[in-house]
Amino acid sequence: MASLYETVGGQPFFDELARRFYEEVRSDEVLLALYPDPEDLGPAAERLALFLAQYWGGPTTYSDRRGHPRLRMRHAPYRIGGDERDRWLRAVTTALAATVDPTAGHLGELDAAERSQVERQLLDYLTMAADHLVNDPS
Ligand code: HEM
Repeated sequence: MASLYETVGGQPFFDELARRFYEEVRSDEVLLALYPDPEDLGPAAERLALFLAQYWGGPTTYSDRRGHPRLRMRHAPYRIGGDERDRWLRAVTTALAATVDPTAGHLGELDAAERSQVERQLLDYLTMAADHLVNDPS
């Protein structure tokens, strides 16, 4: 069975998703305040794109560069409560909807049902992962 990475046509889909996600972050002051380098989110976008591509069956470039993902540990320096999680999910949901949209030029081979299946699979995973990264639920 093809991996989701293959289904979406590889790395450009994840690059676009991360780029759009960080555009959303830029306009959310609560999220933006968490980022160590809010003036230059390009490298953070690249890390997210490579991580997601690797997770969904793409090349292991993320781990080759950064080592084992250990996302809980890597998020420990940032206070992530329910509000931060919700804002992160809102931003990624918006970015994902725009990236799977036919006008974005990705997923050219896929019909509407297949696109929404890709969207659903990614959102289910991202929601579960974001819940797991909450480190200050109070
Ligand atoms: C729950 C809300 C979340 C918040 C507030 C948050 C916030 C952050 C912040 C502030 C960084 C540091 C930016 C950088 O320099 O890379 C970061 C890094 C990162 N985040 Fe998140 N994040 C959240 C959820 C997630 C989720 C759900 C994933 C993946 C499914 C994810 C994947 C990553 C990755 C791969 C990095 C780069 C790690 C590294 O290699 O250093 N994050 N996040």
